[in-house]
Amino acid sequence: MKAAIIKKYGDVNELEVTDIDKPAIKADEVLVENKSTSINPIDYKARQGLLQSMFPWQFPVVLGWDLAGKIVATGDQVIDFKVGDEVFARPDIDVKGINGAYAEYTAVKADKLALKPENISFEEAAAVPLAGLTALQMLRQLNLVAGQKILIQAGAGGVGIYAIQLAKKMGAFVATTASPNNHELVKSLGADLVIDYHKTPIQKILSNYDAVLDTVGDIEHGIDVLKSGGHFVTISSTLTDAQKQITDKHVMTGWLKPNGQDLAILADAISSNQLKIVIDSVYPFTTKGIRSAHERSETHHSRGKVIVKIKD
Ligand SMILES: NC(=O)c1ccc[n+]([C@@H]2O[C@H](COP(=O)([O-])OP(=O)(O)OC[C@H]3O[C@@H](n4cnc5c(N)ncnc54)[C@H](OP(=O)(O)O)[C@@H]3O)[C@@H](O)[C@H]2O)c1
Repeated sequence: MKAAIIKKYGDVNELEVTDIDKPAIKADEVLVENKSTSINPIDYKARQGLLQSMFPWQFPVVLGWDLAGKIVATGDQVIDFKVGDEVFARPDIDVKGINGAYAEYTAVKADKLALKPENISFEEAAAVPLAGLTALQMLRQLNLVAGQKILIQAGAGGVGIYAIQLAKKMGAFVATTASPNNHELVKSLGADLVIDYHKTPIQKILSNYDAVLDTVGDIEHGIDVLKSGGHFVTISSTLTDAQKQITDKHVMTGWLKPNGQDLAILADAISSNQLKIVIDSVYPFTTKGIRSAHERSETHHSRGKVIVKIKD
């Protein structure tokens, strides 16, 4: 099968579409014929070798943590899904470097899958798992409830687009940061207050917030805008010892835990038109296409999700 691999860590030129063996499935896995995948910042961080302590992979590595496609085989223990189901997932890349989503086929644990909503395309479905699950789980970690005020950094980013909509759905007041060209977009997703972070530091206009979802590493200022007892989570940086010791506010790091049940919650919201998907761009599944998709993500200014279309 065709897969995009890296043989060592490095820049985009390490990415190459080539032929490798189709993965075998275990009893609790299904084989998905992928139609689309998407790029997340973790992809280029992993490609650059920045996550080696977390992922001690053997080379070559098939990257990619988002997939949408059709099940073509199921393991003996799989009861909730069948051949022919259209699904999406945030799969786990194996220590052997296999089972990433930049491939025509991926073996995925059944508990990571959810049925793809029928009202969206495979490109749109591939835009959801990693970023959507992160948004859902971080709002939960922040204990967000109706009537509270939350700051969501980078509203036009992959996580931000979902976090804004899910926070609004929960009844929160949402402030977000974005460049001027994205203000209309984030308002259309429900943001109540939009800050051009190039001109106005968040701490100049926000105070007494209940929650902050930090996606950009602006930790000190994010903590500043919280009220006493408020909740802060960063998904893009680490806390200093002093920040870990803050006692009058809940200051945390957050890490996505992929699972099919939460993905099914997102699927329901999409099916009932309560969650929109924003696509920045779609690239072909070629060496040039996958390299360009990484380059686009690495600008830090993609608007929504960067997609790679694997197959019609
Ligand atoms: N811990 C976890 O489990 C987890 C899960 C998912 C993601 N992450 C991390 O979270 C971060 C965000 O991920 P993502 O997928 O949302 O990234 P993304 O899609 O690449 O984010 C792009 C957006 O970031 C905005 N942006 C860039 N610099 C900014 C700044 N200084 N202030 C405010 N906005 C800024 C840009 O907005 P404008 O163009 O409008 O400026 C752009 O729309 C990444 O570091 C990623 O690795 C962690």
